[in-house]
Amino acid sequence: MRQPFVAGNIKMNLNRAETTALLSAVAGSLRQSASSVEVAYCPPAAHLDVARAALAGSAVRLGAQNAHWESKGAFTGEVSPAMLREAGCGLVILGHSERRTLFGETDADVLRKTRAVLEAGLDAVVCVGETEAERAAGATEVVLARQVVGSLGGLDIQDPRRLTVAYEPVWAIGTGNTATPEMAQAAHRVLRGELAKALGAHTAEGIRIQYGGSVKPDNAEALLAQPDIDGALVGGACLEASSFLAIIRAGEATARR
Ligand code: 13P
Repeated sequence: MRQPFVAGNIKMNLNRAETTALLSAVAGSLRQSASSVEVAYCPPAAHLDVARAALAGSAVRLGAQNAHWESKGAFTGEVSPAMLREAGCGLVILGHSERRTLFGETDADVLRKTRAVLEAGLDAVVCVGETEAERAAGATEVVLARQVVGSLGGLDIQDPRRLTVAYEPVWAIGTGNTATPEMAQAAHRVLRGELAKALGAHTAEGIRIQYGGSVKPDNAEALLAQPDIDGALVGGACLEASSFLAIIRAGEATARR
């Protein structure tokens, strides 16, 4: 049984005071009633210090949104996995579609980053997903297979809980166009099959696959109830404590079944 995992990707949003207020509210609420769902927040790197303080003493994990593959050196503007670990992070989002499309990250980059992050003792949340044109062309399965092989192939995963895959169809991100639960489940099923081929069946069974792309309180439960959907990677709806908490509660409802 995979523990549901809900993570908030703040992206490049909120100032320091807003970050403190949001994370304190979510952490405070989850302190009062412990959750069966694993929860994480990933703020911008410049806010990791205030986020760490706001989450202190709570079960909410702190994560980053990117990392470089080298541990140190002449890489102006980059942050290493070791630095993120020292800043209190337990996990890093890698290969988000915004990084792939806006900043030119390739599958090979994502693989190097994922390996470096895992070796530094951090968990990885690796994002994959097809564009609207790829789906329209009937290429979704091919794209997902290529991304799994390219971004994760050859990794030595001892503990499948340390690697999460986030299925984020690009056409659903920030658009309000959520994949239907059936569409998302079909893609997650494909991903689990590809993970089994790339990393072994046992490992693939233990890896959580999150869905991301316009997850909201009103669609979360139907998505999370699908057998291969093990959580959510939440953008816009994680910026409000009430909506993020509602998505966490939806995860709890499906975990009880
Ligand atoms: P939205 O929830 O805003 O669609 O963003 C999803 C996402 O990209 C999370 O990483």
